[in-house]
Amino acid sequence: MNVLLLGSGGREHAFAWKIAQSKKLKNLYIAPGNPGTALLGENINIGINDFEQIKKFCVETKINMLVVGPEEPLVNGIYDFFANDEQLKHIAVIGASKAGAMLEGSKDFAKEFMQKYNIPTARYKTFTLANINAGFEFLEMLAAPYVLKADGLAAGKGVVICENIDNAKTTLAEMLNGKFGAASQKVVIEEFLHGIEVSMFVLTDGISYKLLPEAKDYKRIYDGDKGANTGGMGAVSPVSFVDDTFRKKVCSQIIEPTIAGLQTEKINYQGFIFLGLMNNCGEPYVIEYNVRMGDPETEAVLPRLDADLLDLFEGVATKTLHNKKCETLNQTAVTVICASGGYPDSYRKGIEIFGIENVDKSIVFQAGTTVCNDTLQTSGGRVLAVTSLDDTIENALQKSYESIAKIKFQNMYFRKDIGQDILNYKK
Ligand code: AMP
Ligand code: GLY
Repeated sequence: MNVLLLGSGGREHAFAWKIAQSKKLKNLYIAPGNPGTALLGENINIGINDFEQIKKFCVETKINMLVVGPEEPLVNGIYDFFANDEQLKHIAVIGASKAGAMLEGSKDFAKEFMQKYNIPTARYKTFTLANINAGFEFLEMLAAPYVLKADGLAAGKGVVICENIDNAKTTLAEMLNGKFGAASQKVVIEEFLHGIEVSMFVLTDGISYKLLPEAKDYKRIYDGDKGANTGGMGAVSPVSFVDDTFRKKVCSQIIEPTIAGLQTEKINYQGFIFLGLMNNCGEPYVIEYNVRMGDPETEAVLPRLDADLLDLFEGVATKTLHNKKCETLNQTAVTVICASGGYPDSYRKGIEIFGIENVDKSIVFQAGTTVCNDTLQTSGGRVLAVTSLDDTIENALQKSYESIAKIKFQNMYFRKDIGQDILNYKK
């Protein structure tokens, strides 16, 4: 089959790596891709939201399947664009419909959905500028810290956690007055959930589902979970506290009601659901839904997946996922992100990267890289994702850090404590 994959990050390099291993693949194209994906297929210079160019390419190249990496084209309705076009409707799209993508595209929609279908999540209320005073009163009723979320997509920056009430009120006013543009015209205020976070991933054809390996993400820039929020500085899979009991609760209390709710609402959903969960004393709560895979979690999850990804996707497209085999390797995967010094604030780009070719015990997924004058250079904040598999988390960590020691670029920064919280976790 001919596959077009949309996206250009480390997640998409990991997708390309897994798709390239499929027995069902004929040609793989990635739009726009990165130098890492170019090693596995052909990069096509088309933007992820340029639906007309994507259509032209799919028709000319006889694409059979479109795999959507990031959320933006889904929220913009790429699934529906394909489903409603005579020339495209035979092409399988792996990704939620526009209505389904609202689970990520609108926090208010997601909270209302969870409330309606009794899915455990933090108590909340949504406010606009018209009822800001009610928002202040609601904040007074909650205990610190305060969680404020822009309703719409805000490039991963729309969640603000405030330590005191004065700061929470000022932030609410700022958000409703356009701090995140149109995304914060509505603000969800919710109860702060205590516990330890985990990311869980579901692939669904809208009827049945497969639970993929879980992962833990490291969001803050500095060791010990200090400093600014980032896209994610590393990931580990599996996560020790996700045992059978916890997994069963996630399936029965969260995943099954979510899929049943989508059916009741007549929302087409054939793709990934990413559950950002809080484990509070063994009970799972949904912090957020995403309609895509996580980054960098994908770089740790897909190497553990013992399945032909295109075979699973075919099951999604034909609603026969229940017949497909999807096993997990009994190994630990550790991903460490090598970032540009200064990220997530300002950082330099165009710095030459050396030594990837010397890495032989890990997989180096490329994220913020570009080729310029025949040399590999940095082009983003998160530059490389170095993934290792081994029997124990300690051994996998050692491999990733040894591999990183072989890679060099000026001002390279990475966290030294990935996985330490899991090693130290006591039930
Ligand atoms: P998000 O952008 O939705 O991924 O949220 C960013 C981060 O904010 C999450 O990963 C959590 O660490 C934190 N967060 C969001 N909602 C809550 C909540 N209700 N209680 C505690 N932490 C939260
Ligand atoms: N790593 C978190 C995310 O992809 O949103």
